Amino acid sequence: MKAYWFDNLPGDQREPHNSGRDVPASYLSDLGVIYEHCADVSGVDAIATSRQYKNRDEITVSPEKMGDIYEEKVKSFFHEHLHEDEEIRYILDGAGYFDVRSEGDDWVRIWLEKGDLIVLPSGIYHRFTTDEKNYTKAMRLFKDEPKWTPLNRGDETDGNQFRKEYLKAREGLAVGQ
Ligand code: LAC
Ligand code: NI
Repeated sequence: MKAYWFDNLPGDQREPHNSGRDVPASYLSDLGVIYEHCADVSGVDAIATSRQYKNRDEITVSPEKMGDIYEEKVKSFFHEHLHEDEEIRYILDGAGYFDVRSEGDDWVRIWLEKGDLIVLPSGIYHRFTTDEKNYTKAMRLFKDEPKWTPLNRGDETDGNQFRKEYLKAREGLAVGQ
């Protein structure tokens, strides 16, 4: 795992876009993002049990698996959105980037590789992309039915109940940059 400020420079979304400014783990936790390294699936099982995640599946984001729709899929995952549920991903193989919005509305880029697990809180604006190797195999955890409908950012998402609750939970935290 590596977290840093996204450079906002033009270029393919799969390039590192590393500004050279690192983001400390404590800042991620202020944003409500949980990161863990799980050397094997037993660590994931423990997290799933404690958070009452009963179900899981696997997705491979790669041109080999997705064929013609790969480029389109990768672009769609990169649209800024939120969910009304947590998003939990465990990287089984390969690597990928999760970008999350900071308190000041800048992008924090989080690079995850095999064994890394992330929990994005409901209501956080985020996006995902593969890296230049074009290969992310991930486990997705969900409580009951998958509720992965991405709500693309716009006026309606700013008024979304889960967005408001997310922001409220951040109030009072001395989040600096
Ligand atoms: C998801 C990633 C793309 O919602 O954020 O599956
Ligand atoms: Ni998402």
